Parts: sequence; structure tokens; C-alpha cells
Amino acid sequence: MHLRVLGAAAGGGLPQWNCGCRNCADSRAGRIPSMTQSSLAVSADGAAWVLLNASPDLRMQLLGAPSLRPRGLRDTPVAAVVLTNADVDHIAGLLTLREKTAFDLHATPEVLATLAANAVFDVLDAGLVRRCPMALDTPFEPAPGLRITPFAVPGKVALYLEGARPDLGEIGERTVGLMIEDAAARLAYVPGCAALPDWLVERLGGADLLFFDGTVWEDDDMPRTGTGDRTGARMGHVPMQGPAGSLARLAALPARTRKVYIHINNTNPVLQPAGPERALLARAGWEVAHDGMEVTL
Ligand code: MLT
Ligand code: MN
Ligand code: ZN
Repeated sequence: MHLRVLGAAAGGGLPQWNCGCRNCADSRAGRIPSMTQSSLAVSADGAAWVLLNASPDLRMQLLGAPSLRPRGLRDTPVAAVVLTNADVDHIAGLLTLREKTAFDLHATPEVLATLAANAVFDVLDAGLVRRCPMALDTPFEPAPGLRITPFAVPGKVALYLEGARPDLGEIGERTVGLMIEDAAARLAYVPGCAALPDWLVERLGGADLLFFDGTVWEDDDMPRTGTGDRTGARMGHVPMQGPAGSLARLAALPARTRKVYIHINNTNPVLQPAGPERALLARAGWEVAHDGMEVTL
């Protein structure tokens, strides 16, 4: 299996257009690498590729990836797009994929309903872009040799769909993780996750490589940095730190599971390569994804 991190950042990217926090300032100054918004590309054969989420930065991400360029006049190696939720950072890139080229779009019925309710997505020609409902815990094959099984993880509905009191730990079709398998390996991709109950830890332990929600270091990253009043819990993202955090909870994964944080918010201190938080992650066996990171499994 081949995979490429198209974007390692959470919504907003690094730097975020309106943010002057330390990480955003450092990336503008070239002191730390900038990052585009959360997406992976995977392929079993290196020829047909599946995009896991379609970020607002997709156009630049495709330009930067030689294996994703057209091989002829009006062509793409992108066979399919699979969505994990309906957040802006995961769906806005669909608008980049207009221009009359066929691919399959896989998402849960709930997420497909959100797209259907937004007429702007009708720029994707229904005669070319098939909208394929994916059922929880049911494998499908979006490209030759690649099997994907979506599974519910604790999460929250997309920000723009929140009512007065959103459920901050709902488990259903609106936030899913993906288990991606080919003949050689298993990859788990969970860019948004509000909590890590035992059953989920056990499921993730089946992966050779895990890309997991690295939005916040501590629950109060944003209040602490003065960038906003939203906690990780309020945004539907489990923190890295703390007894219920991903560092502690996923310490139980088998040693063969390589662990990489993705969907990292620009306020997260782990983005400082020389910082104590980054050293702590490394000691715990975690890596931090970066744009253009490639892995062959
Ligand atoms: C999230 O991951 O919490 C969302 O992408 C936030 C957003 O919509 O900006
Ligand atoms: Mn997001
Ligand atoms: Zn920032």
C-alpha cells in the first residue's frame, strides 16, 4: 500500500489566514514548515488513488503530488474520494474536483444528505461523479485491491450544522474512522475523534499504521493561547494529554502499530520541533505527520 499525506493540519491550516499565534507566525517566517488541511491519498497499486477527505487546499495538494497528476488529456489517477465527516476542511475540496472528470464519492448516508442539501456541490456532474453510500462496518472497494471499512467513532456534527446544544460525543454516521486494507497491510485513519473508549482502542490495535486526531495537545489549547474560547471537547476532539487523552489511551496499542498524529491544529505546541511537547510525543512512540510524507506498507 502506498500513502501520501496531502495535508497534516486541522481546519484553517498552518498558518491560518487570520492567526498570529506563535506557530502561525513561525510558519510565515519559514522557521517551521507550513501545513495544508487534513487529507490522505492511498493506493494499492500506485496507479489508482483514493483521496481520504477533500480539503480546501486540494488544488495545491494535487499539484505537489507527482503520482496524482493527469496521465493524459483530461484525466486523473484519482479513482475515488472517501469522506469521514462533513466538516468544511474535509468537503470543500470537492468543489475543486468539478470540471467533468469521473470519480466515485463515498460517504455515509448522513454525510451524503448534507452534500445533497447544499446545492453548490451539484457542480459535480451527477453523470460522472457517482455518490456511493457507505454503511458502517461494511467493507467496500473504492479502487482495485483496496478495501475500506468505515466505523463510527465518538464525534460531533459539523460546526455549521450545530443546533443550540450539539451532542459532543455522538456515535453514528456523522463522524467515522476508516480501516484501509490491501493484501499487505492495514491502515487506520481517524482525523476526528472525541473520545477513546476501550472498544475503539481495541479496533485501532488491528492497524499496522494509525493516523489519529492530533488537533489539540491539552483540552484548553485555544483558551490558553488566547486564540478562542473553544475547548477540544467542545470541538469534538480528544486531547493528546491527560488520563483520557490519546497518548495515555493509545499507549495500549501493540508495538507493531506505528502511530502518527494528523489533523493538527495550528495552536498545538507539538508543532514546535524543539519543544518539550514534541519530545514527550517522540518518547511515547508517536510521530507528527507533515505535508508530503509518504509511506509504503
Ligand atoms: C473540526 O475539525 O473541528 C472542524 O474542521 C472545525 C471547522 O469546521 O473549522
Ligand atoms: Mn477539522
Ligand atoms: Zn495560529
